Amino acid sequence: MSGGSREYRLAPASRVQGRFAVPGDKSISHRAVMFGALANGTTHVSGFLPGADTLATAQILRDLGVSIERTSETELRIKGAGIRGLRASATPLDCGNAGTAMRLLAGLLAGQRFASTLIGDESLSRRPMRRIMDPLTRMGARISSTEAGTAPLRIEPVATLNGIDYTCPVASAQIKSCVLLAGLYAQGETRVTEPAATRGYTESMLAAFGADVSVDGLRVTLRPGRELTAQPIAVPGDFSSAAFFLVAGAIAPAGELVIENVGLNPRRTGLLDTLLDMGADIEILDRREIAGEPVGDLRVRASSLRAVDVPMARVPDMIDEFPAFAIAAACAKGVSTVHGAHELRVKESDRIAAMARGLTTLGIHVEEFEDGMAIEGAEAFGIGSIDSRGDHRIAMSFAVASLRARGELRILDCANVDTSFPGFVGLAAAAGLAIAVCDSQQEPSA
Ligand code: S3P
Repeated sequence: MSGGSREYRLAPASRVQGRFAVPGDKSISHRAVMFGALANGTTHVSGFLPGADTLATAQILRDLGVSIERTSETELRIKGAGIRGLRASATPLDCGNAGTAMRLLAGLLAGQRFASTLIGDESLSRRPMRRIMDPLTRMGARISSTEAGTAPLRIEPVATLNGIDYTCPVASAQIKSCVLLAGLYAQGETRVTEPAATRGYTESMLAAFGADVSVDGLRVTLRPGRELTAQPIAVPGDFSSAAFFLVAGAIAPAGELVIENVGLNPRRTGLLDTLLDMGADIEILDRREIAGEPVGDLRVRASSLRAVDVPMARVPDMIDEFPAFAIAAACAKGVSTVHGAHELRVKESDRIAAMARGLTTLGIHVEEFEDGMAIEGAEAFGIGSIDSRGDHRIAMSFAVASLRARGELRILDCANVDTSFPGFVGLAAAAGLAIAVCDSQQEPSA
């Protein structure tokens, strides 16, 4: 990111209309680059997310000696280096804003015969890393952080890692994936047991690349020793990006949107179930399967929403969608509640605090809990200025609120929308939002 700051200004709008696709899935795009880099042969990726997060992962693998060519905006050609083919980078590896990059790469790098340093931006440098350092250290890795347990992470080479049987204390696909990737370099098998199921792309994609991985309920077992073989990867649209338009279509007073080619893995679509529970008029059209992943087109129409208590068991399946959900809840009849979502406090921002503050600014009654919130629906949002705290999903969620606002909304610090959703403003405008972007240069801070 440059030293400039970006602001969105949104006039109220009341109708949405359109049919479009959203960019590729972020989780799958990160893994496509990593596994393609470790494979033997050339991996072609289509539908790749050209966002800052996933481009950071691609650059890091280039820094580690892998040839990755962008053959078009959304296509990559990765000449895999093989599981033992990475080389030391002369410079620190910059993950930018991407927690997935840092946590998964830490696992992958823990088993290399060279040292690495992982760094990130201000937000990522605040996020907890002990959750991956603990299991990696138990495997024999040498990994250090700041005293607060945050990046930069320094990883020193070790002679060998040992497989472990690890029970994750929190439901986190990043922790699970980190340990499994280190397991590729360990002696003996590595088992990871989760407290609740999280997105399973690491295990399913590693299996497709030829790794010896098996899943038994909440437990994943990886046996090392196999080479990975290049695979073509077609990345579906990111449900987490479609989520903003699902909420937009549901809360807009009028209109209809169709979002095409959206990945519908059940570990990702908790918001869809929640919006349906709230009475949203959403239909899945042309449900199909692409490369083993469920995909469909989502049609959403103006809906009259009622409040919901989000079931705790559903929280991991909509973990990235709570900012968008909060906007829907603020437009629903009654009081909606979320509990069991403590993890939201350690995302790109403290999302419970960021949403509670933003909604309160717009005149919505919110009660904040340590692990969630209660939101009382209202007829309309007031006007005001929202600090997105540099969090892409907070910025996009409040942009959608303009469909039920009484006047202009200003959303500050929006540059990070490009981490996950390049082209958001263009699609939002085409769908009917009255959105303008103001870029300003900040004075360099002393
Ligand atoms: C991700 C896992 C989730 C999610 C993140 C992407 C992944 O994080 O919030 O956006 O690709 O594995 P946690 O594992 O911290 O829940």
